[in-house]
Amino acid sequence: MARPATWGKFIVVDGGDGTGKTSVIDFLKEELKGGDILFTREPGGTGSPLAEEIRGVVLRKRDERVFAETELMLFSAARLQHVGNFVLPALRRGNHVISDRFSSSTIAYQLYGNGRLDLQKFFDNLDRVATSGCVPDLYILLDVDSEEAMRRRHSAGATSRFDERELAFHKAVRAGFLETANRFPRSVIVDAGKSDADVKQNVLDEILKFLN
Ligand code: TMP
Repeated sequence: MARPATWGKFIVVDGGDGTGKTSVIDFLKEELKGGDILFTREPGGTGSPLAEEIRGVVLRKRDERVFAETELMLFSAARLQHVGNFVLPALRRGNHVISDRFSSSTIAYQLYGNGRLDLQKFFDNLDRVATSGCVPDLYILLDVDSEEAMRRRHSAGATSRFDERELAFHKAVRAGFLETANRFPRSVIVDAGKSDADVKQNVLDEILKFLN
């Protein structure tokens, strides 16, 4: 659904664990500070303490089995709080919003990673409610070979239930991301195997080109 021209633009930067997304986002925050661009992240998000609490719940390592459906509902609940309390009000005020991850991560991790494409309809129904139809105006995917991403994760140290999953899981997540990138009106796949400086500059250039 097209938004009024006075609204800000919604930009999502996404990618698997070990693609260097966090350092790219830190770079963007520094380069773009002082403008009308607001930063947020998922799971959790600026402007929603409840979504941030759900982040802690859903990322914590656990001994009990966590069902794919449970994950879908938790990520979607956090997203609803985040979109309703922060993303849509900010866009409506005319601010641009850059989100570190969005629904595309749920498709990649919970559906493709978990091998649960049978949950696509269930997810679509939840996502419609969670996002109120808010899709990224610009979607930037950081993509790198899964073995290389695994090496990077190992040297950084795994921090959540997801980044310590096996290589096959992360390969499926990567396939999910690549598939999903095509669904957005405008998407850019950045080769995150290049040097750190090149990747950061590449992402910044894409955002500036889109906004100007
Ligand atoms: P982060 O490391 O980018 O903060 O993300 C935390 C982890 O949460 C990461 O391993 C990916 C995972 N995740 C999902 O599995 N589904 C989702 O919908 C989101 C937003 C993140």
